[in-house]
Amino acid sequence: MRKPYIAGNWKMHKTRVEARDDAADLVQQVKGVDHRVMIAPAFTSLGVVAEVVKGSNVILGAQNMAAAEEGAHTGEISPLMLKECGVETVILGHSERRHVYGETDQLINTKVKLALQHGFEVILCIGETLEEREAEQAEAVVKEQLSAGLLDVKSDQLEKVVIAYEPVWAIGTGKTATPEDADAIHKVVRDEVENLYDHKAAEQMIIQYGGSVKPKNIASLMDKENIDGALVGGASLKTETFVPIVKFK
Ligand code: PGA
Repeated sequence: MRKPYIAGNWKMHKTRVEARDDAADLVQQVKGVDHRVMIAPAFTSLGVVAEVVKGSNVILGAQNMAAAEEGAHTGEISPLMLKECGVETVILGHSERRHVYGETDQLINTKVKLALQHGFEVILCIGETLEEREAEQAEAVVKEQLSAGLLDVKSDQLEKVVIAYEPVWAIGTGKTATPEDADAIHKVVRDEVENLYDHKAAEQMIIQYGGSVKPKNIASLMDKENIDGALVGGASLKTETFVPIVKFK
């Protein structure tokens, strides 16, 4: 049984005070919910949010992580620093990191392995651009990003890996993939996990959908066999929209 997993990516929003207050509100409202719930605030808010979510069912995530433990990496945040803040999960390979900041599959793979080595859960984001979808390359692109991202990840580390399928054209645009289209790619991803590992690993893999997830479309997405959760950007910023997504049924 794959437990539904709803994650909120707050991106570059909220000051520390706003993040603390919104996280406190969320903790109250999702008490007792039997789905996994995660929020990833900006690095500067991790400390205050960690205090608020402590002892609750809300998991603390980071939006990115450096590919090294320490050194001359101006502007980067190391796994040791994230761990000290109480982070349990790291989002890696988000399309904004890939396409705006030029992160390659190879760099993302280094981060994935380092994060797993430090005991973090990893949400590995993959997804095609509009041009790639129109050129009928969506399946090939996600398979390549998946196998490159998981290169040299051992099967006994997979229980700490979550995949987020986020078609780039659906992120922040209000265009959601139809549940059928999303499910079809999720199936491709699951089959590729089987191909790279085995049937059991594929059956257990949590695959989130991301890209304009809203309270009104979450139930139909979650209804699909291969969609196990959501990675939510815009709609995670307000408790009024995030809580109904978390409690989609
Ligand atoms: P969105 O973002 O929900 O605002 O489309 C999703 C994401 O980038 O993870």
